[in-house]
Amino acid sequence: MSVRVKVPATTANLGPCFDTLGLALDYYNIVEIAECLQGLTIQVEGEGVDLLPTDQRNLVYRAAKLVFDEVGYQPPGLRIKLVNKIPLSRGMGSSSAAIVGGIVAANAIIGNKLSTERMLELATQIEGHPDNVTPALLGGFTVASVQEGKIYTIKLLPPAIKAIVVIPNFHLPTEKARAALPKQVSLSDAVFNVNHASLLVAALATGNLALLKIAMQDRLHQPYRTKLIPGMNDVLAAAKDAGALATALSGAGPTLIAFAAEKYEAISQAMSEAFRMNKVECRTMILGFNTSGAMLIHE
Ligand code: HSE
Repeated sequence: MSVRVKVPATTANLGPCFDTLGLALDYYNIVEIAECLQGLTIQVEGEGVDLLPTDQRNLVYRAAKLVFDEVGYQPPGLRIKLVNKIPLSRGMGSSSAAIVGGIVAANAIIGNKLSTERMLELATQIEGHPDNVTPALLGGFTVASVQEGKIYTIKLLPPAIKAIVVIPNFHLPTEKARAALPKQVSLSDAVFNVNHASLLVAALATGNLALLKIAMQDRLHQPYRTKLIPGMNDVLAAAKDAGALATALSGAGPTLIAFAAEKYEAISQAMSEAFRMNKVECRTMILGFNTSGAMLIHE
């Protein structure tokens, strides 16, 4: 049996909702898994072609194996082909796309025995936090909470705006971006984030775009990660000056993201110019959102 899955890129945190909120973008990797008579072959095209392991360490394979192990199925052999467009270690959910792609493909091979909830639990178990894997699987804006290994999630549909995504030409491993965070924060910063995260989810749920600029402020992770991304504050300020509704560090970075209902090109140019003034090369994309999540592709 052979299956192909299309999995969206994602942006997590959206400012104050650290490890909680995520949004699926209209930009995709393709994961193809075919059973064969024996062995494991993994072919990578596009992003990560020279970097990703093509043996049992490969994340797509590890995710698929978790599904097979869960139901006690042992495929005789596997051929995996990855067509990757999502840049690696940039804060756009490339590892979540790999995990979700492997899980959804493997689940199709075993006859869809696992529920969406179980797939989400397995994906979060591998990734360590639910904020990218949830929108990669479900699409839309997702609020996700983990309690004793179970994921509690609500999906919201995104408003009619677009994301301007600015991707610097350097990698920032998530572990390094997480190591920059403090072990403890003040009560006033914690309250600031509870307050803004709540306002952000309420604004998204009701389509109140005017509140995004206020709501999408953060004190738990962005201030500590600024030093890892030269020019970050200049780029975010340039986006706002050019007409963005709100801005954020995308996931753990280094990609920066702005949301807008108009002036997409002007915002994109202002952001890339601000990066260049800080001697950082970057590429930009203007993206809509994905609302369906990972999908099997039927030829
Ligand atoms: N919430 C995560 C972080 C996303 O900011 O570290 C990165 O995977």
